[in-house]
Amino acid sequence: MTKIPYKINLSEDELPKYWQNIRPYMQEAPDPFINPVTFKPCTADDLRPVFCDELIEQELDNTNKFIEIQEEIRDFYKMYRPSPLTRAYNLEKALGTPAEIYYKFEGTNTSGSHKLNSAVAQVYYAKQQGLTHLTTETGAGQWGTALSMACGYFGIDLSVYMVKVSAEQKPYRKAVMETYGARVIPSPSDTTEVGRRILAENPGTGGSLGCAISEAMEVSMKTDNCRYVLGSVLNHVVLHQSIIGLETKLGLDKYGVQPDIVIGCAGGGSNLGGLITPFMADKLEGKNNIHFIAVEPASCPSLTRGRYAFDFGDTGQTTPLMRMYTLGSGFMPSPNHSGGLRYHGMSPIVSKLYHDGMMEARSVEQTKVFEAATMFCRCEGTLPAPESSHAIRVAMDEAIKCRETGEKKVIVFGLTGTGYFDLAAYQAYNQGTMVDYVPTDEDLEKGFATLPKVEY
Ligand SMILES: Cc1ncc(COP(=O)(O)O)c(C=O)c1O
Repeated sequence: MTKIPYKINLSEDELPKYWQNIRPYMQEAPDPFINPVTFKPCTADDLRPVFCDELIEQELDNTNKFIEIQEEIRDFYKMYRPSPLTRAYNLEKALGTPAEIYYKFEGTNTSGSHKLNSAVAQVYYAKQQGLTHLTTETGAGQWGTALSMACGYFGIDLSVYMVKVSAEQKPYRKAVMETYGARVIPSPSDTTEVGRRILAENPGTGGSLGCAISEAMEVSMKTDNCRYVLGSVLNHVVLHQSIIGLETKLGLDKYGVQPDIVIGCAGGGSNLGGLITPFMADKLEGKNNIHFIAVEPASCPSLTRGRYAFDFGDTGQTTPLMRMYTLGSGFMPSPNHSGGLRYHGMSPIVSKLYHDGMMEARSVEQTKVFEAATMFCRCEGTLPAPESSHAIRVAMDEAIKCRETGEKKVIVFGLTGTGYFDLAAYQAYNQGTMVDYVPTDEDLEKGFATLPKVEY
């Protein structure tokens, strides 16, 4: 039998030429977006003032299983893709587990995460449409950095609203984004009406992704030749991220490896949705029985403690309504160290798959996450992002279970990025000052009270 190498690398020629769309495989597609004024499903025209035309088409496409990746996007991808799929031999040994552990590493580009996979596609379509400006939000900073890189490459002006607490925790993120040519504004800010309103109501707030989205959307609507772009949650972002799963499957297939468990961290659901797409498509067609696990922070538990309801994507309540697992757009997550997972909602695709019983969700506390991250970096070398480390935690827990049962399961997880900008978090963990935040039921009720009453 061929020995499986530490790194399964694909050649440039093997870079997928199509993204895979999970929706046509689902028995029932996720509910359509609802216009919050008419309470009717959103049409492409409803979305046109905010989003790029091609992205709207992809967003509403529940039919085509494969969508071509344009050559210009593939050429950009080739600078950092195919990304490595690594067999975690060293971690397996340290855990003393009979399980096989693999991780798909998306942190090999400067932005340090998978976010670039969608950023380059979104900016390419904006450029094709003749747009000159884009706005966005960023939590951890990875999406803002990725979009800055893509905008720098295609020559598009970019404003990034960065969640204030993350901007304070990671000042060098701002420097990187500015180097690529973007403007970075900590959110909430006084540059928008919605920002001023949020600040007036809650002056000490550290912000949230929901606030930053509201601000970025407001600016895009008020700026000529400008659109808003989002780094997660939406169907087209999950579509672009399917490149992660397609490459993973191709790599595993080369060695005849079939996963038993596939694990991803879940903030807005894009890396998880993308990683699982080809495996889930097969599961939906009855070709496998893989166990999928979404991992979220205990401090922001949208899948494990949220409600499956129509909700706004932003705190200012300006987006279309999406049916998703949500803590309510008014939920203010505590300032934990995984900025990219501090979002009140979840991708409608991931939410629907979870609601239909196609996957499990687990929440984990941040000290346990950093314990896993520390062990991982000592064994495998790579310093993982706190977000990614949620997946590491559960992969390790599953491998430890295998040690106890003697099962030789194949565990695959998404290592979405690196943690070089998260060293304040590592420092807090190392010094023993990191604390866990778990919202009480009362805290959650306050968020649920902000859910809109939707008759659809
Ligand atoms: C490294 C990393 N992993 C995961 C996430 C979570 O996002 P998503 O659930 O859309 O993949 C983020 C978001 O910022 C991130 O930066």
